[in-house]
Amino acid sequence: MTTKQSMNIDPYEKNWIRLSIGLLIAFAIAVSVAGFAMGIQVPSPEQRVDPNTVAESGPWANPGLRTIQEGKKYEAYVLAQTWQFLPREMTVPAGAEVTFYVTSKDVQHGFKLQNTNLNVQIVPGQVSKLTVTIDEPGRYDFICTEYCGLGHAAMFGTLIVE
Ligand code: CUA
Repeated sequence: MTTKQSMNIDPYEKNWIRLSIGLLIAFAIAVSVAGFAMGIQVPSPEQRVDPNTVAESGPWANPGLRTIQEGKKYEAYVLAQTWQFLPREMTVPAGAEVTFYVTSKDVQHGFKLQNTNLNVQIVPGQVSKLTVTIDEPGRYDFICTEYCGLGHAAMFGTLIVE
């Protein structure tokens, strides 16, 4: 006597399995297109720093713009603290590529550059890096998007594009 085991899947359930596999494939394609074809960046920890000393030594001791290539490429070192960004104001030429390196010396903050897709969490001890190119001249405020205490609502700075 032999017993033959077979898996019986209800046709209705089979369709849901097919749909689930189809969705996984669709999501994998969407993530690949966004990442490789459209260049959408996910903020990732760039480097670690010591929040206790970050304001005293290293690039954030003297926060602000660094010119990498005049008129074309800049780096912006921004220090977040309760309740302000340092520097409060920076000016770059229109069409220049600006890479932000933002960190916090105290609590968790947020960094959102208005009217752009640049929006990142600022965690003490971590450096958040994001690159943006702005062609349209104007004043772009960067605001804190994570509640960080009493002065949270007043925590902002400005990037001037001219
Ligand atoms: Cu800093 Cu909210």
